[in-house]
Amino acid sequence: MDKYQFPIKPRKPQTLHRGILFVSFLSIQLIIILFLYARPIQVFSPRPCDAGLVYVYNLPPAFNHDLIERCEKINPWPSRCAALSSPGLGLPVIDSDKKFTGLMPANLLQSWFSTDQFALEIIFHHRMLNHQCRTLNPSKASAFYIPFYAGLAIEPHLWSPNSTSYDRDQDCLSLLKWLQNQSPYHKSHGWDHFITLGRITWDFRRSHQNDWGSSFLYMTEMENTTRLLIERDPWDEKDVAVPYPTGFHPRSASDVYEWQQFVLNRKRKTLFGYVGAPRSGFKNDFRGLLLNECGQAGSKCRSVDCSEGKCINSSAETIDLFLDSEFCLQPRGDSFTRRSLFDCMVSGSVPVLFWKRSAYMQYKWYLPGYGDEPEWSVFIDRQDMRERNVSVRAVLEGISEHKVRELRERVVKLIPRLVYASESLGQGMDDAFDIALKGILRQLKDRRRRKKMGTTK
Ligand SMILES: *[C@@H]1O[C@H](CO)[C@@H](O)[C@H](O)[C@H]1NC(C)=O
Ligand SMILES: *[C@@H]1O[C@H](CO)[C@@H](O)[C@H](O)[C@H]1NC(C)=O
Ligand SMILES: *[C@@H]1O[C@H](CO)[C@@H](O)[C@H](O)[C@H]1NC(C)=O
Ligand SMILES: *[C@@H]1O[C@H](CO)[C@@H](O)[C@H](O)[C@H]1NC(C)=O
Repeated sequence: MDKYQFPIKPRKPQTLHRGILFVSFLSIQLIIILFLYARPIQVFSPRPCDAGLVYVYNLPPAFNHDLIERCEKINPWPSRCAALSSPGLGLPVIDSDKKFTGLMPANLLQSWFSTDQFALEIIFHHRMLNHQCRTLNPSKASAFYIPFYAGLAIEPHLWSPNSTSYDRDQDCLSLLKWLQNQSPYHKSHGWDHFITLGRITWDFRRSHQNDWGSSFLYMTEMENTTRLLIERDPWDEKDVAVPYPTGFHPRSASDVYEWQQFVLNRKRKTLFGYVGAPRSGFKNDFRGLLLNECGQAGSKCRSVDCSEGKCINSSAETIDLFLDSEFCLQPRGDSFTRRSLFDCMVSGSVPVLFWKRSAYMQYKWYLPGYGDEPEWSVFIDRQDMRERNVSVRAVLEGISEHKVRELRERVVKLIPRLVYASESLGQGMDDAFDIALKGILRQLKDRRRRKKMGTTK
């Protein structure tokens, strides 16, 4: 398997001469800097917990572990037990989906899982419990994490025909009742508290009695608490969008380097790929229009039909498609965001977006914004497509080979930030979890500083 030789990782440093070791050490540092800090976002901190410590509430199991145990009948579809196992990562693909074999270098297969797109709450909790900046002493903490699996709590009531608004709210209400008896919550009015919600924000924003979802985020006791979720309300500063979990959960920084080399140098046979299902019930459905374009582009485009929930786990078909495509089309789905954006970028494919709210107004801690969006994505105005005969194929064919390479390199550099590692990656490399945690702590530090200045003025 010569084509899978990776120059970046020194395999057996203990057998190498000291000088070589030193040089490799330096080059690893350099690579880390090049990969992660092409534009410096933050500097390495010599003491990792300088930004503060986090206290994790020890909630009654009814608010988290017990919810996983209902996995057999959590929704009308097949059991979610496997998907919610090995805390939130799901089954390793080596056991569950043999089609992955041959798609990628064999040792990287071990970092791929059949991960459920709504498993964030479990994944995050597990990482937080094992984090070096966790403290068991609330008086030492500068942030408080509430490990309530709200998404899992409301899920059984989202599709059950007999469920009432009360059913969808009751676990959230009990949690808030519990929280009100905690002195840290009282002390700060919830300002230094945060929670992860594994579903989109709209599932927690029911404003009328019999509408969809729970009204968790409209409950007064939640107003000051920061929520990390896979899709935010762009007009609520307390909502912070974090990546959807994909199937890639690297075990170490070297896993990530290998994967980056692999996707960067891969021969891509297709100009663009599209994973999705048309909504036959919708008139003028944009996804149908894209499927049409794809068909007309012949061998320049490949699509995977995702109807009937076929793409719920990062399946081999979708990853194979993204690994093969220079670009991937990312229209909005039922909501503005989709897991597919992350499957695409993790595979080194450049996303083509049609709604600003699908990514630009969402993942601000993760994806370069403020005018830098064209460095890692292509935006096509959907109105132009409908009215001015603009075609995706023509737009993409108009991008020079050199520019395509630049786009891909930028996307590949972002990969570590977009994935949830199974454990801390080490070597100073931050994954999506680290970025979220650092972001929370930085925000709180800023807030405390502003408050201090406010009182002295
Ligand atoms: C919903 O209610 C109907 C009628 O009251 C009942 O027959 C049915 O079993 C209920 N379904 C569930 C899932 O509880
Ligand atoms: C949220 O914070 C504001 C300002 O600190 C405070 O007035 C309000 O009571 C807080 N909300 C809750 C539910 O504690
Ligand atoms: C998703 O993964 C589970 C194993 O975790 C598997 O049983 C199921 O068939 C997969 N679903 C699809 C649609 O690939
Ligand atoms: C749209 O563009 C295609 C080729 O780019 C052309 O063949 C077709 O006639 C155009 N249609 C309209 C309505 O302008």
